[in-house]
Amino acid sequence: MDRSNVENALVQVLENFQRCGITRFGSLPAGEVPAETLAAVSQLTTTTANPKPASASPNVARRSAAVSELAATTPEAAAVSATQATGATNGLRASDRLPSNGLGAEPWSLPVLSLEQRQTRFDELSGQVRNCRLCSSIVSYRQQTVFGAGPLNPRVCFMGEAPGADEDRTGLPFVGKAGQLLTKIITAMQLSRDEVYILNALKCRPPQNRTPMNEEIDHCRHFVESQLDTLRPEFIVCLGAVAVRCILRSELPIGRLRGQFYQYRGARVVVTYHPSYLLRNESAKKHVWEDMKMLMAELGS
Ligand code: URA
Repeated sequence: MDRSNVENALVQVLENFQRCGITRFGSLPAGEVPAETLAAVSQLTTTTANPKPASASPNVARRSAAVSELAATTPEAAAVSATQATGATNGLRASDRLPSNGLGAEPWSLPVLSLEQRQTRFDELSGQVRNCRLCSSIVSYRQQTVFGAGPLNPRVCFMGEAPGADEDRTGLPFVGKAGQLLTKIITAMQLSRDEVYILNALKCRPPQNRTPMNEEIDHCRHFVESQLDTLRPEFIVCLGAVAVRCILRSELPIGRLRGQFYQYRGARVVVTYHPSYLLRNESAKKHVWEDMKMLMAELGS
């Protein structure tokens, strides 16, 4: 293991400690870490990757209902193993390769922050979002901005498109019909909304809920990047094409991209359909469930 691997492993251990609520970690010069420590670090990294036991999920009945809603319409979905799903290529041709956004191999651009530091950063950042007036056709139309919601040390971030009417009214992401479906998906994954961070590519509602333009995604991207750099999730779920355009900078359809992991800085990215699309296309639920099972296998759930 070279020095950067050692540092990465230690950073992961530190993040896992933070997830367990431990915010202090002694400083250990990476170059002096003995081999036995490295072995222990990699074991610890693996064994603490899922600090909350599955039984912590409070409502088993709610979860089974959510699973049946996703899988019942899709009996074959239950049969698809995570390994099969991971190996799926969806007909991605060599010429379809994602354009490199130059971020795939980059580490996170911020050091690991304590929960207090993360909160301070988010307070500043959400103030900047509230004051942003870059998108002239949106700014006079929005009631308020929607920054995002969730814990400051999530393993998974779900990223949508832009606030709709309900989100514009409440200031919270995914609280309307699509949000209720997202909650069911999260519940079916043995997670709760309190355990994941939810954000959008755009922080303001576009007029008549129209699809965000690339220029608007560009305007908001640095907010999204700063949020992710602060949170350092292990996984980012891109819900729909706009999230993909923001994070992976690809215009390829979801059907082509889903079924495998991509890299965005220190996180692995899963691409799947947006819940609003599922409300209109019931048959796509089985694919989302396959994608979530692929992710659950990696989460250890
Ligand atoms: N759709 C989104 O993409 N985000 C929301 O917050 C709500 C609906």
